[in-house]
Amino acid sequence: MTGSEMHLPAPRLLASKRPLVIGHRGYAQFAPENTFPSFEMAVAAGADLIELDYRQSRDGVLMVVHDPELNRTTDARRRWRHRHNRVESRTALEIQMLDAGSWFGHEFAGTRVPVLAEALEVIQRNSVALVERKAGDALDLVKLLRGKHLINRVIVQSFDWAFLRALHELAPEQIIGALGPPKVLCSGRKPAAIFRRLNGPWLRELQKTGAKIAVWNQQVSRRGIQLAHQRGIKVWVYTVNTQRRANRLLNVGVDGMITDNISLIWRTIALRAGKNGRAAQ
Ligand code: G3P
Ligand code: CA
Repeated sequence: MTGSEMHLPAPRLLASKRPLVIGHRGYAQFAPENTFPSFEMAVAAGADLIELDYRQSRDGVLMVVHDPELNRTTDARRRWRHRHNRVESRTALEIQMLDAGSWFGHEFAGTRVPVLAEALEVIQRNSVALVERKAGDALDLVKLLRGKHLINRVIVQSFDWAFLRALHELAPEQIIGALGPPKVLCSGRKPAAIFRRLNGPWLRELQKTGAKIAVWNQQVSRRGIQLAHQRGIKVWVYTVNTQRRANRLLNVGVDGMITDNISLIWRTIALRAGKNGRAAQ
């Protein structure tokens, strides 16, 4: 990374010497996931990055929603009286009429499903988005990021390594994270191995996508992380929601933790610093 690129948030975060705290779907512990209140809360809690998921509506708009169906996190089923309510079967306008907050708590009633472009505007004011592509073409995302001058002001991640490779070809400068273990390799093949732990073969495969970050499940060892670091790859883990797990992962050297509970992770990091301070006296 050159000095001139370091003014951008993504390379700066990648170069961080301390573990990063990343809000999962905003601040999912205390607000409905992937909504504006969740993002505002995560910003207020000082998350280094704020993760969100997006998919495409029927009319091609990138919408912030995790599941392929709208049922779990909105009132789609009650409102439309259909058993299945897939994101790609509805227009953005229809999806934005839904209530994406009441399922979580009555105080969030009326919260909308955000359009990705609007969510990024809110998050980028005071934090950095970790944009997870669940469905949609690489070109559509690149058009949005370039149009809004957000290349390397956000970080992009996906479990679909073929998508990552396509994105990397379109925007080689954009920092990306490869979520793992993946269902699809960057060749488009399904991985033969079922090893879930981050290891040398996974890292070799991961580098073919152009990713600079392995965003792994918690099956990471000190050795796996050392191997990643030797290759210039950072290791972030998902989704860390207890102090015990956070401590184990910090002990083996992770570079970032994605969490539903941002304040719990900050507290864990602070307590460790206090302990180290006592030991140094
Ligand atoms: O950011 C990692 C994590 O979000 C991946 O799993 O299902 O929550 O999108 P999921
Ligand atoms: Ca996600």
